[in-house]
Amino acid sequence: MSKLKAGMIGGGGDGAFFGRVHERACALDGTRELVAGALRSSADASMEAAAVWGIQGYPDYQAMIDAWKSGDLELDYAIIVTPNNAHFGPAKACVEAGLPLVCEKPMTFTPGEAEELAALVKETNVPFVLAHTYTGHPMMMLAREMVKNGDIGEIRKVNSWYNQGWLATALEDEGLQQAQWRTDPSRTGISNCGGDIGTHAFIAATWVSGQPVTRVSARLNSFVPGRTLDDDFNVIAELGNGGTALIHATQIAMGYRNDNGFQVFGTKGSLEWHQEAAEKLLVRRGAHDETYWIGANFDFFPQSIASYLRVPAGHHEDFFEALANLHGTLERQIRRARGEDAPEPYAHPSVDEGVAGMNFVKAAVDSSANSGAWTDL
Ligand SMILES: NC(=O)c1ccc[n+]([C@@H]2O[C@H](COP(=O)([O-])OP(=O)(O)OC[C@H]3O[C@@H](n4cnc5c(N)ncnc54)[C@H](O)[C@@H]3O)[C@@H](O)[C@H]2O)c1
Repeated sequence: MSKLKAGMIGGGGDGAFFGRVHERACALDGTRELVAGALRSSADASMEAAAVWGIQGYPDYQAMIDAWKSGDLELDYAIIVTPNNAHFGPAKACVEAGLPLVCEKPMTFTPGEAEELAALVKETNVPFVLAHTYTGHPMMMLAREMVKNGDIGEIRKVNSWYNQGWLATALEDEGLQQAQWRTDPSRTGISNCGGDIGTHAFIAATWVSGQPVTRVSARLNSFVPGRTLDDDFNVIAELGNGGTALIHATQIAMGYRNDNGFQVFGTKGSLEWHQEAAEKLLVRRGAHDETYWIGANFDFFPQSIASYLRVPAGHHEDFFEALANLHGTLERQIRRARGEDAPEPYAHPSVDEGVAGMNFVKAAVDSSANSGAWTDL
């Protein structure tokens, strides 16, 4: 079985963050490798970054896709790691060319682009995974399975959150690249905090509970002077089954790092998971609590999750592995479509979740601008 070859769009340059995380996630299982990239927005910088990474460089994403189409470059999938305003263009070009992809969240810049991309992916059947990294954590997958199996009964309420403190001061004025584009409406979209990490909390609430959000009442704040977009994002949401979700995210929680997690309250029990302690899932039953620990040797994992585990209990599987699991899901889709032997891919987020996330953020922005009025998705 030959390694799948990937080409990255964005992610390069000295100050860049998540490209290198994807590079490691791509390579982690030894069945995939990064071979090419259009790693930056300018042609020269793109070629330079590829030389530093030791991969085949291209001046822009279209040149890389053209090289693949003409047979000059062998590729099995693309990875999009650009700021939000540069997701749709390359994603559409990849899907139109028939190239599978892992695309960063939020899926696009506008809900309209998300709808268009989703329709194209459905029409062409091109494998597409949306990089909600935390959904690759086996314990988050286990929580989703427990809800699906009815282990905690009917879902009444969900509390999901993402607390960060890194934007509690104006880091964008100090030249930090990630802060600059996230707080710039022309590159990030109509919401900073909501689009960036509110979407992770949204996915935790909806993907785990299996319930869509139908309407929201929101309060967005912009605490740091000079910002036009939110750095604090608070939503009360109605779920499809009539339940309630509190979905909140903030970038101004001093001292908080990546405090993402969820609680799901059902009629028979409650689930609780924290990404900063991602190896355990707590199930509360009333008389007693159960703690499930990650480990490839534990037989309580259904096969759909066990096939994503790598090492026995007590050894860490964490952030890189979670993202690698999303690359693994795309790999399974690609190999099975070719008739190769590969385990069943898990139902990780794709275009439907991407569209829902974009519509959720838009409804929250509209609701907040309208004094928290209930706003349908
Ligand atoms: N899933 C997660 O957990 C997670 C975590 C962090 C970031 N992200 C997402 O990853 C994306 C990148 O975020 P980041 O923090 O790594 O940003 P970054 O600023 O560190 O990196 C962005 C990169 O994209 C390049 N770029 C910009 N426009 C481009 C274009 N048109 N063509 C090619 N390259 C271009 C830049 O040169 C830079 O290298 C964002 O969409 C962000 O939401 C996701």
